[in-house]
Parts: sequence; structure tokens; C-alpha cells
Amino acid sequence: MLIARTLPDLRDACMRLRRHAGSLALVPTMGALHEGHRTLVRRAVASGAAAVASVFVNPLQFGPNEDLALYPRDEAGDLAALEAEGCALAWLPDVATMYPDDAETTVVVAGPAERWEGDARPGHFRGVATVCAKLFGQVRPDRAYFGEKDWQQLQVVKRMAADLLLPLEIVGVETVREADGLALSSRNRFLSAAERTVAPRLNAALRAAAARIAAGEAADAPLAEARADLGAAGFLVNYFALVDGPSLTPIAAAAPDARLIAAAKLGAVRLLDNIPVR
Ligand code: PAF
Repeated sequence: MLIARTLPDLRDACMRLRRHAGSLALVPTMGALHEGHRTLVRRAVASGAAAVASVFVNPLQFGPNEDLALYPRDEAGDLAALEAEGCALAWLPDVATMYPDDAETTVVVAGPAERWEGDARPGHFRGVATVCAKLFGQVRPDRAYFGEKDWQQLQVVKRMAADLLLPLEIVGVETVREADGLALSSRNRFLSAAERTVAPRLNAALRAAAARIAAGEAADAPLAEARADLGAAGFLVNYFALVDGPSLTPIAAAAPDARLIAAAKLGAVRLLDNIPVR
């Protein structure tokens, strides 16, 4: 596996890989790689393209009260995982490369970036959209892979790529879960043993509400009951909502592309999850 830490090295590596494989598939990450990330890399490799994974903890997507300093970092472990999955190139830029002092441009997406995480984490999607636009410009991939676990992020990146006519395909990959339903996340490691036993209830609540809504019930009662049950189990529910998947607009009943989305805090850990309503 090639490793690039500077833009000239990245350009050189991407040129060589494109010549050899014909196309490039990017997996943007912030490191602390788990099975969810490994699945994205496997999908990128299986596409036949040379897989490029970026590892960059992006300061622009963290708010002033968020855990940038505490965000888990494990470069050696990340490189070993990427290599084991057949990744062709690891891109490890530093902050000065991504955000030079004279940079004046950021990317703000409206529509799907509003509400939910957009309300809970002001500026977060500006950070995500900006870093993704830069990574796309640096690597120039044919495709980029994102987990559906961060459903709103996936829609924001798709909207940005479509609106800016970026010449790549954004591919969403199904959430990888523990056997008990908990969606994999780099932050799960911060759950205490007691919280870890309660955490899968978020996914269970989503599945229970989705079954009722898919069976034709209006969303109000299932959503209210799910919020109450999660509150009783010790979650601080931030939102638990039925939305149109691509636009993230709230809806009142099942519809094509309907998605249940939820964010809830368990102790100090904010958990996100979402599922389709079929
Ligand atoms: O999902 C993440 O890990 C990050 O938000 C991303 C897409 C790598 C941008 O920093």
C-alpha cells in the first residue's frame, strides 16, 4: 500500500494508480477504523478501482464544545486495517495541507443539511462538505463511498456533488451493526459496560416504530412512544423522526424513500442511527 502525506506525493500516487487500475474509489475517513470503514474499503476494492482511503480528523466539522481533542486516533492500526483490506493508497494530510492559512472558501449546503444534525451541531455540515470537496479535488476519484449510518451526511454530500456538478458518483453503503443491532461507530468505545447493554435499544426502537408505520399507522403515536420508551431507558433523545430520505424533510406517514432517523445521548456518548421504512 502506498502512503501519501503531501499533495505532490498524493498526485504522483494517484496518477500511477489510475494508469494501472483505470479508476479510483475514495473512502473518506477520520481514522479509528472499525468494521464499518473496512466494509467501505472492501466495497471500493470490489468495484475494481484502486481504493484510496483518506484519514484526516477534520477540525472544521467539530463545534467548540465537541470532542476534537478526544477523537480516537490510531494511525498504525488504521494503516494495518487499510492494507489488510487491499487499499492501494492511504492519504494522510495534515491540517496545514487541508486548511492553508490563505484559504477563504468553505462549502455550505442548504436543504438536507438543515434540521437534525444541522441544528444539533451548527457548522458541522459546512465542515463535512468543505473537507469532502477538498478530498474530491485532491484525489479526483470516480466514486466515493460513505456509510448510511450517517444518513444525513450522505445526503448532504450527494446534494453537494450534484449541485456542483462534481464528476464522481457518491455510493452509500448499508450500516454495519453489532449482533445486537447497535450501529458501529468510532464513539461506541466510550460507552460504559452498563451503557453498552442499553445502547441497542435505539435500533430496537427504530425497528418497532418502522414496523408500525410500514403497516399503515400514522407516524405520531409510534414516534412519541419510541421517544418515551428511550427516555425511560436512560437516553436523552435529541430527535426521533420520520423523514423523506433524500431531503430529510419530516413526513407524517409511510412514503417511498421514508426513513426513520434518530439521535440520542447515552451518558456522554451521542448515538445516531436510521433505518428505511419499507
Ligand atoms: O464520516 C466521517 O468520518 C467524516 O464526516 C468524513 C466523511 C470523513 C469527513 O470528515
